[in-house]
Amino acid sequence: MRRKWVGGNWKMHGSRAMASALVGAIVEAKTDTVDVAVFPPFPYLREACAACAGSRIAVGGQDVSEHESGAFTGEVSAAMLRDVGCGTVLAGHSERRQYHHESDGQVAAKVAQALTHGLTPVLCVGETLDERDGGRMAEVVSRQLGAVIAHCGIVAFERIVVAYEPVWAIGTGRTASPAQAQEVHALLRSQLASDDARIAGSTRIVYGGSVKPGNAAELFAQADIDGGLIGGAALQATDFLSICAAAG
Ligand code: 13P
Repeated sequence: MRRKWVGGNWKMHGSRAMASALVGAIVEAKTDTVDVAVFPPFPYLREACAACAGSRIAVGGQDVSEHESGAFTGEVSAAMLRDVGCGTVLAGHSERRQYHHESDGQVAAKVAQALTHGLTPVLCVGETLDERDGGRMAEVVSRQLGAVIAHCGIVAFERIVVAYEPVWAIGTGRTASPAQAQEVHALLRSQLASDDARIAGSTRIVYGGSVKPGNAAELFAQADIDGGLIGGAALQATDFLSICAAAG
């Protein structure tokens, strides 16, 4: 039985005061039946890590450099995230792939950096609307997942969370139906299973894209949906906590 996982990706929202209030409310709530992670903007990570110390809440960066260290102005390394107390990190979020042109190879290198430094990578995959309408959904998500399997090896998936985030459902209010999401999750799991059935059975594959308190339970009830990566609804403690409750 896979334990459910719920993450809150705050993207570039909020302020130091908001971050502190939000983390405080999440730490205080009883979410022990599900693995919970929060992904605040970089400047707020240190304080969030301090506030979550001693709790089961993991704190993570929204991105990580594919490089170990060096002259890469503006980048943050996996070692630095670890150094301030992070336990996890997003890799390959569609907003990074889209606006920063991150390639599958770069995303795989980011996942590898995270693993090297003891962070749980949350590997994001997902197709655009054009790709879905063009009948290329399976090809795209399988290419994105395959790049990480090829670079990091299947055994790495014992420590990776996979997030399926269809680009057309992010921030649009247009959620994938539970059946649409389940279809892709099953595809991703069978791709993992073709390398290692045991690892495929234990890897968490979570859904992201307009998850709200009102639709979370139905999504999380699908056989291959092991929780969610939440954007907009993660900015309100009550909404985020009710989504965590739907997973628990
Ligand atoms: P929304 O929940 O706002 O659609 O965002 C999803 C997402 O991108 C989480 O990483």
